[in-house]
Amino acid sequence: MDFYEVVRRRRSVRSFLPRDVSDEKVRRIIATGLAAQSAKNRQPWRFIVVRDAAAKKALAKAAKNQHFIAEAPVVLAACAVDTDYVMTCGQPAYTVDVSIAVDHITLAAVVEGLSSCWIGAFHEDKAKEVLGVPDTARIVALLPMGYAASSPEPTSRGSFEDRVAKDTWPEAWNA
Ligand SMILES: Cc1cc2nc3c(=O)[nH]c(=O)nc-3n(C[C@H](O)[C@H](O)[C@H](O)COP(=O)(O)O)c2cc1C
Repeated sequence: MDFYEVVRRRRSVRSFLPRDVSDEKVRRIIATGLAAQSAKNRQPWRFIVVRDAAAKKALAKAAKNQHFIAEAPVVLAACAVDTDYVMTCGQPAYTVDVSIAVDHITLAAVVEGLSSCWIGAFHEDKAKEVLGVPDTARIVALLPMGYAASSPEPTSRGSFEDRVAKDTWPEAWNA
């Protein structure tokens, strides 16, 4: 599968088969996240691999009862340390850095025959409590991952022409 095919095939999957995912696969997938670029190469990411059933259930609850999270054999908690660094452009580096790593991970999962769903709708304080994440760190995303039990249709995207401009910000984008 070439890179473009991997990108095309990725879907947010919200139901998983009760089939285990090997540690080797999880390790290979996470390694792609660890290989990601990061501002000043600070690599602020930390990943917690959650397989414990009670912890996954508690994370699902912290994520506004998105029950499919607990169905996944593995839930990655994508965390950050060193969260004070703000880039010259004004963006906090850790959210960008961790998100790039998580995106690598979602694509590597496809290569490994797995599916995932990025979860941003979770109460961080509750998720931190479940996983013992300290106040000094943040949880940027949760990522349930496993073998898909459904094949969602591709979701729609706006056209290239409406979202990509030449040289300057077009008037049409001010609407
Ligand atoms: C930052 C972010 C947060 C998201 N949070 C959730 C979430 O909490 N629950 C959920 O079911 N999907 C979540 N999604 C998945 C999006 O709904 C999904 O990516 C979008 O609808 C496009 O569908 P696709 O991923 O299948 O292409 C999130 C995606 C991103 C990138």
